[in-house]
Amino acid sequence: MTVVLHVENICATFGSLRAVRDVTLQASTGERLIVLGTNGAGKSTLFNLIAGDILPTSGHIHWRGQPIQALSAHERTRMGISRSYQTSRVMHGLSVADNMYLAVQGVQVGRFGLRVPGFHHPWRQKGRDTLALVNLAGMDDELASNLSHGERRQLEIAMALASDPHMLLLDEPAAGLSPGERPGLVALLRSLPRDVTIIMIEHDMDVALQVADRVMVMNEGEVVFQGTPAETAASSLVRSLYLGYTGDANAA
Ligand SMILES: Nc1ncnc2c1ncn2[C@@H]1O[C@H](COP(=O)(O)OP(=O)(O)O)[C@@H](O)[C@H]1O
Ligand SMILES: [Mg+2]
Repeated sequence: MTVVLHVENICATFGSLRAVRDVTLQASTGERLIVLGTNGAGKSTLFNLIAGDILPTSGHIHWRGQPIQALSAHERTRMGISRSYQTSRVMHGLSVADNMYLAVQGVQVGRFGLRVPGFHHPWRQKGRDTLALVNLAGMDDELASNLSHGERRQLEIAMALASDPHMLLLDEPAAGLSPGERPGLVALLRSLPRDVTIIMIEHDMDVALQVADRVMVMNEGEVVFQGTPAETAASSLVRSLYLGYTGDANAA
């Protein structure tokens, strides 16, 4: 397996808070790495560091052999790194197709055209093709506000896929889903193109273990465990960290 992402001793500090402490991790082509950890463990901050939404206090990030820790988020998107956010970025007042159009447009060169292109424009077609990957084919004209919670999560994944990423960072894609909606999301995650590397933050252990090739657990900014799904399920450390955990109260 080719290592595509190499994060080395990365740190992020907010004032006196060390949100991410000396995290080192690798991910290979097509790998599904799940990041578990209680609220405030530093998971979303780690994604912000990898995606370029914040710059590290120290440490290195190599993407396909190239140092990227000083590059902007947009440059990293162009290089094939894409992400979804814990708090939805879907525009509720727009149709599904228009949300997709904006997501596709966001990664094009010279992208601030004034004309709104019609149905047959290649970016529109790209939007429709990507919707099909997440089982939302034919939902183009629906207002995003009319989608179910699960469908909105699917749309967010489609928006993150719009840039044809080599790596997808998904921040709690199952958050807020009912138990009945979770198997559908698991099936969708398992059906995504196998050559795309996926790093996913997930609180639901069942969802995580069904999707993961490898699991990493963070606590208080540090990586405290890495292992296979079977090792994770058997780990008393993981169990003790999760005991009494009731959900993400401050989704940020
Ligand atoms: N931009 C920021 N400014 C200040 N503190 C932050 C910022 N982002 C995150 N934090 C803090 O860093 C810690 C880790 O947050 P986060 O990475 O969101 O955790 P998780 O995603 O694991 O729940 C929390 O204490 C949070 O309040
Ligand atoms: Mg988070």
